[in-house]
Amino acid sequence: MIFLFQKKQRKGDERFVFCEKVKNSYAESVKILAFETSCDDTAVAIVEDGTRVLSNIRVSQVEHSQFGGVVPEIAARLHAENWKGALEKCLEEASLTVEDIDMIAVTAGPGLQTSLLTGTTAASFLSQFFHKKIIPVQHIRGHINSIILDRGPLPDSFLEREGEIQFPVLVLTVSGGHTDMFLQSSFTDIQRLGGTLDDAAGEAFDKCAKMLGLGYPGGPIVSREAEKGDKKRFRFPRPYLGKESLDFSFSGIKAAVWREIEAAKETSTFKLQTSNEKILNQIQHDQNEQFIADVCASFEQAVVDVFVKKVARVLSRYPEVKAVHFTGGVSANKAIRKALEDLCVGEGFKPSRTEKRKISFRVPAKFEYCTDNAAMIAAEAFLQYQKNPEIAQVQFVDANPRLGV
Ligand code: KG4
Ligand code: ZN
Repeated sequence: MIFLFQKKQRKGDERFVFCEKVKNSYAESVKILAFETSCDDTAVAIVEDGTRVLSNIRVSQVEHSQFGGVVPEIAARLHAENWKGALEKCLEEASLTVEDIDMIAVTAGPGLQTSLLTGTTAASFLSQFFHKKIIPVQHIRGHINSIILDRGPLPDSFLEREGEIQFPVLVLTVSGGHTDMFLQSSFTDIQRLGGTLDDAAGEAFDKCAKMLGLGYPGGPIVSREAEKGDKKRFRFPRPYLGKESLDFSFSGIKAAVWREIEAAKETSTFKLQTSNEKILNQIQHDQNEQFIADVCASFEQAVVDVFVKKVARVLSRYPEVKAVHFTGGVSANKAIRKALEDLCVGEGFKPSRTEKRKISFRVPAKFEYCTDNAAMIAAEAFLQYQKNPEIAQVQFVDANPRLGV
């Protein structure tokens, strides 16, 4: 564990110099080392003052792709194998040692118990060994506030600068484990408006990919296929759940995709390829390609329509909302981003024929802040610490797979 004590500084590292300069303009700067291991990514990051990312390491577990979803047993084993290497890389990239760190943050939940345990145990060990305070973080709050990463200094100037966040904000957070809408009145004051009653949207993307014999995670693959497809070929359901509902349901869309695939198999429009059946004849191959692209495009369009409808409902019901933030793994999706941006910006949101409102629309500053990452855990920890410094203690953090927002 020698690396934990060594300070490595690279000559001419512009980012390092930049951070040193910025640091001087603050009375106090807080560097947080964060761990995120709630699902299948082993992530470690160092973030200064909640927004300046000094290092953001993520070790993905490709082993799950052959199963079309995360296998908890495998995830737990790989977290245990990967966390020390990820930590070492993270410290090296930031040219820091654990001793230079002011505080530690860790995802306490929700997530897979056996995955969470690696992060909480590692963070708690470092807290005790180096006598560093540790802040437990709720994972979804991390996604919600991932929006502040790389967007300039906090706390006051961030809110007052023109074009920056004006509350209240509607936050749509969508990933493989959750699909929720929140009304955010401050960085820490968050009210849940609605969420999925069954599958998360990311999970539906993953299942769609699995049914078509594509890989995992399904979201990026389905959206890539969708670009080549006809979104009108299949009319999948749009579950709006009545006029007033702010909840979601994606299991019906998933079932409709399954029915379409089964029907296509019967008529040989589609043939699911197995690994020992690599080569299809040219006609079957072309039919397959088109079918896959069209199913993906039609599926994605159904999801897009649902999100646009629900966000519009919230904007109509809460005229005080100034901005929409779209975060979580699914916020990497270009089609959904564009549709939501068109709704808010452009011509502006039209609640009625005579009214028009311009709503700011934001997604995380980089794609790596959409999917699970530890930088967002550090950002959230910093915001919680600013609100109540007492939450940071030298302590042992327990994993809580059902931890609520
Ligand atoms: O936030 P995240 O990394 O982990 C969870 O907290 O679940 O989200 C992962 C999910 C996966 O279901 C993945 O398929 C989905 O985000 N995803 C996407 C895209 N990129 C990732 N879904 C749709 N389009 C994408 N481009
Ligand atoms: Zn997540």
